[in-house]
Amino acid sequence: MNKDRINSILKNMSLEDKARQLTQINADFVKSDVKADATGTSDDLKLTHGDIYGAGSVLNFGGADDALAVRQKYISQSQNKIPLVMMQDVIHGYRTIYPIPLAVGCSFDLQLAEDCAYIAAVEAKYNGVDVTFSPMVDLARDARWGRVMESTGEDHYLNGEFGKAFIRGYHRGGIGCCVKHFAGYGAAEAGRDYNTTDISERSLKEYYLYAYRECLKEQPELVMTSFNLLNGVPVNADSRLLLDILRGEMGFDGVVVSDYGAVNEMIMHGYAADKRECARTAANNEIDLEMMSSTYVHNLPGLVKSGEVSEEKINKMTERMLALKEKLGLFDNPLNATDEQKAAEADGCAAHRGVARRAAEKSCVLLKNNGVLPLNTSVNAAYIGPFAEEKSILGAWACAGRADEAVSIAEGVEKLLCRKPVVVKGCGRGLFDSDDSGFDGAVKAAAGADVIVACIGEYAHFSGESASRADIRVPGVQIKLLKRLKELNKPLVSVVFGGRPLVLTDVEKLSDAVLYVWQPGSEGGSAIANLIYGRANPSGKLVASFPRSVGQCPVYYNHFRTGRPKGQDTLEGTVYTSGYIDELNAPLYPFGYGLSYSRFEYSGFGLSSGVMRRGDKITARVTVENKSGTDGEEVVQLYICDKFASAVRPVKELKAFKKIYIPAGGKVLAEFEITEDTLAFYTANGSYEAESGDFDIMAGGDSVNVLTERLKLI
Ligand code: GLC
Repeated sequence: MNKDRINSILKNMSLEDKARQLTQINADFVKSDVKADATGTSDDLKLTHGDIYGAGSVLNFGGADDALAVRQKYISQSQNKIPLVMMQDVIHGYRTIYPIPLAVGCSFDLQLAEDCAYIAAVEAKYNGVDVTFSPMVDLARDARWGRVMESTGEDHYLNGEFGKAFIRGYHRGGIGCCVKHFAGYGAAEAGRDYNTTDISERSLKEYYLYAYRECLKEQPELVMTSFNLLNGVPVNADSRLLLDILRGEMGFDGVVVSDYGAVNEMIMHGYAADKRECARTAANNEIDLEMMSSTYVHNLPGLVKSGEVSEEKINKMTERMLALKEKLGLFDNPLNATDEQKAAEADGCAAHRGVARRAAEKSCVLLKNNGVLPLNTSVNAAYIGPFAEEKSILGAWACAGRADEAVSIAEGVEKLLCRKPVVVKGCGRGLFDSDDSGFDGAVKAAAGADVIVACIGEYAHFSGESASRADIRVPGVQIKLLKRLKELNKPLVSVVFGGRPLVLTDVEKLSDAVLYVWQPGSEGGSAIANLIYGRANPSGKLVASFPRSVGQCPVYYNHFRTGRPKGQDTLEGTVYTSGYIDELNAPLYPFGYGLSYSRFEYSGFGLSSGVMRRGDKITARVTVENKSGTDGEEVVQLYICDKFASAVRPVKELKAFKKIYIPAGGKVLAEFEITEDTLAFYTANGSYEAESGDFDIMAGGDSVNVLTERLKLI
């Protein structure tokens, strides 16, 4: 970092300059000098011309030409000529959209995740993006929460691994990145977005902060603070979280950016009496960049003059912003990599769409198959349902992705079969649809087919930010249509779209096969066609449990036993045990579960030793055989259970996984190393260590069907 350059800029900045440098506004303010925020509402930011052209950063602009115009206009009008840093939500692709992160997590393929982030970064940087507001590593255990689609699921270890992979990809592609939302946002009560979170010290350390600690190892440029109240204090007011933990224990010295208006929201939370108190609180907590609120601009100079915020702190925060721009090369090239020609060549190019298609193929999860899949291309299949020709399958946070550039199922199937398939919509996909007038036409078309492929699910924008649902079944009349199709007594394949684990209990009963395709992105229809007709073999495994009913939420695999455990798969023995009288405890589909066209058999599971001394390393080995005639990939998962501990441990915890290719009839030996650290946890006295005693070590192709060996740590 060129400290001299930064210091020379800093010393020429007034307090007002610094306050502006610590403010992030929508690019709209620069583009057309309007004083309304991006939503077009009246200017409650009350920004002057000097504020706009002194702001440190902008967000939300559209493409290379727009970005160039913003950068050039800003530099021409700004007094101190400090270049903008431009940020955007490139969450799962820029123009080429790959599956939502929850789906990419189901690939259990870290290299694939990195490659996805890489292509996103390449397209984004040419379109003017210096930093993406990604990866999101919130632990999400409640399928009602709309933003579960942005996470990689219910396991903190996996979230850490995927978060690091995404960061590596962004950096390799040439942009900075921002880990979010710090912290605990995914624990929103009742799955309702922006709702209160109350997280014990232990859960916070062990589960909710884990992925951040891991991601910081890959040096993300920013961390974003979250909207939520955490244990009674708004996160942006929580100095223990932001200073002691994030800056202190975790050692993060990059830029902390607030979420959109979150600094100002301390008033609505009932914490700050006014914007001045918001500014004082946020600045003293070293929130370096205030996104889309203007408490700093209007209050920081006065707060420094009154001594309520030290100038040293403002200088440190400003220095971080300048250091970020220095690191991104913006002082030497204020336009950075923005380039209309290169953007036009990269956006949606065949190579990028190839990565997106591969990601979709590997992210879809085959949940049921009685053998009806894969279909033979000679079979006369009818594609029925509102998603058969749907092109809005990019999911929420689809950045510059365009639905008209996405491949629908019908288009993917036509391309593969070289003939148009029979397609009938049959009904709508609305949350509250009741119109079944299209059923008869759909049933008539289906009656003429050998196999029915029902294309149903949850529309792309029924998940994502502020899209929590209290009823997480397939919406509207789609299930009624499925029942009508079932009455034809023909093989029935359900292809289901969704941005969250949906309640598929009815779909499961009615279908001979269920392929869950999430929101698969630009190449969704091609990938789905390849999977249906066996050009690709499903290999996805769930990173989030699928509830039988919404009443089970939150349901997740690494739960505790309780003092009165109840069988997961039975209503018997309900009396005085921890269960429901009207529902099983077990999810419909468990964490780690997913079928393949291959058939994998596990055997010969063993440990190099049943006793482990401190400092030892032992090896867990298991043979996986592909007993089918179809080459395939299997995700071999390693779990542990600490049987007795000073703070009780989950019934199982994923500690490692390997996605391995096994040819038809072949077998592979999968090996995992187990060390003390594998067995460590936050003990009752808060130390992070492994406690002597008995452990179950388990291996399998999901979190339920596992082979188990006992290990004693002495
Ligand atoms: C949103 C989201 C955050 C996003 C930011 C900028 O409200 O919470 O994830 O990065 O605003 O768009």
